[in-house]
Amino acid sequence: MKCLSIYRSMATAFLLLAIFYKPLLSLRGQDAPPSVSHGLAMTPPMGWNSWNHFACNVDEKLIRETADSMVASGMRDAGYQYLVIDDCWHGSRDENGFIQADAKRFPSGIKALADYVHGKGLKFGIYSDAGMKTCGGRPGSRGHEFQDALQYARWGVDYLKYDWCNTSAQNAEASYRVMREALDASGRPIVFSMCEWGTAKPWLWAANVGNLWRTTGDIDDKWEGKFDYKLGMMNIVDLNEPLYPFAGPGHWNDPDMLEIGNGGLSPEEYRTHFSLWAMMAAPLMAGNDVAHMSAETKSILLNRAVISIDQDRLGRPGHRVRKDGTLEVWSRELSDGNRAVILFNRGNAPASISVAWHEIGYPDKLSLRVHDLWKQEDIGSFQGTFTADSVPPHGVRMITLTP
Ligand code: GLA
Repeated sequence: MKCLSIYRSMATAFLLLAIFYKPLLSLRGQDAPPSVSHGLAMTPPMGWNSWNHFACNVDEKLIRETADSMVASGMRDAGYQYLVIDDCWHGSRDENGFIQADAKRFPSGIKALADYVHGKGLKFGIYSDAGMKTCGGRPGSRGHEFQDALQYARWGVDYLKYDWCNTSAQNAEASYRVMREALDASGRPIVFSMCEWGTAKPWLWAANVGNLWRTTGDIDDKWEGKFDYKLGMMNIVDLNEPLYPFAGPGHWNDPDMLEIGNGGLSPEEYRTHFSLWAMMAAPLMAGNDVAHMSAETKSILLNRAVISIDQDRLGRPGHRVRKDGTLEVWSRELSDGNRAVILFNRGNAPASISVAWHEIGYPDKLSLRVHDLWKQEDIGSFQGTFTADSVPPHGVRMITLTP
């Protein structure tokens, strides 16, 4: 009898937990359908994409040189593994409907290029569009999804960025699911990067469709503002940050590719750009001219301490925990129980910024070791709070805190 009543109260407890705990989980986006990552992109994808610097000026010489430079510069060894050709590689379809590369720009064909990239120890990515035409006016995949996925698999493609131009009345979820099925049917594991610009809120439905989804319109190499159809880096940050509960291993928010090294921002601002992308667990797709990058650009893109925050295997994106006017505190929980913290000065004059332990989930009485990720030095042990003096305008102090 007693036993029965214990079972009853246990069952009631489970029921209550299911009723009340589930909405909490769904608030964190964690009861999303199981991700179809196929073990891919368990940490945010890292690589290089041609668009931000070269736009439609792509050819096989550029891609080969970039592959060489990714190896020579140490980018590959730091984790940048996917080399992705964005728009404008396409020629027309052959008599059977199979897509071909632009024969002038890619005379050796895509298969040979993918082999070259693979030979360098890198992975190879390509671009298409869910509509009739890409944004650059090349053939889109609409009506050819299975054939295109098959062609990519034959070429040895490892990553597909799939854009959303010229889709008129198409339904986003249905369109991306068709390509998902086509990729599965191709038999090759291919990372699926959904470039739908956040229009149909992919974070609500895409965890079992793609491995990453753009959350915003296109990034511009500018600090803040709207420029035609493009957005300044800070506008992108503000749109992407609240979506942190929806991302995790195999399914990531994508606030667009990096502009580091493209010349529109100061080195301080590019360090901020890189720090915030790592904090948000964003894909790190470099978008610069790798063969001709400066030492400064290289020191930002190759900061392994910051990269390791982005790639932390817990895969829980950080977020803003406090905003006092132009001063912000961001925090990210790491797999070892430590925190990565950014003290960010959005203003135009140097400022001191503090973080209190209770703001980042630690008791104030704890003593924490502070390590500076850009200076690459230990700062010491602190109790209850840490203050960064003179954080430069548009700059960050990025630290880890270890109990
Ligand atoms: C869209 C995408 C960009 C890029 C271009 C190519 O604007 O958002 O990232 O792929 O198309 O035309």
